[in-house]
Amino acid sequence: MSTSEAVSIAAEKRWALIVVAIIGFLVLMMVITGLHWASMPPSRVETVDVRTVHTQGEFVESNLGTTMTPDGKVTVRLVAQQYSFVPQCIVVPAGMPVTFRGTATDAIHGFIVGRTNANTMLVPGFVATFTTTFPHPGEQLMPCHEYCGTGHEAMWAHVQVLPPEEFLAKAKPGERLSCVPR
Ligand code: CUA
Repeated sequence: MSTSEAVSIAAEKRWALIVVAIIGFLVLMMVITGLHWASMPPSRVETVDVRTVHTQGEFVESNLGTTMTPDGKVTVRLVAQQYSFVPQCIVVPAGMPVTFRGTATDAIHGFIVGRTNANTMLVPGFVATFTTTFPHPGEQLMPCHEYCGTGHEAMWAHVQVLPPEEFLAKAKPGERLSCVPR
């Protein structure tokens, strides 16, 4: 074996070792992050029991709609099912932060409010929540945007964005508000 051959074989071996070390490091990183995620789910995951969602807890029918606490926090609670939202008509104030809390009972649904950034998926067993502010008063359509079955196209609700004074005149602390005709 000539010297130059020995040198090139040594170099090849060195590089092979470096490549193996890099692959080993990447695999180890995947294993560690995978185990980390599996043992610590993201902190904002909230679950709800689909079997009792209608009969107890936060999403019973009498608790759905818009509420305002005495300190002025506005929360909208809603449930999606094939093929409607409850409530069908949602009242919110313009220019005030509004927190949505929603879930689904049968299939994956979702909604978007008109051209606003209010947009989420509703997955059975999980509570979807986000806070947004509607800048302008007016009426918005709120369609379901996840294909959920044959009635998907017909699944939508209305959102009435009221001027804040009008909303505050209607909202009594602790009461559930909606614009569903009675
Ligand atoms: Cu519900 Cu599509």
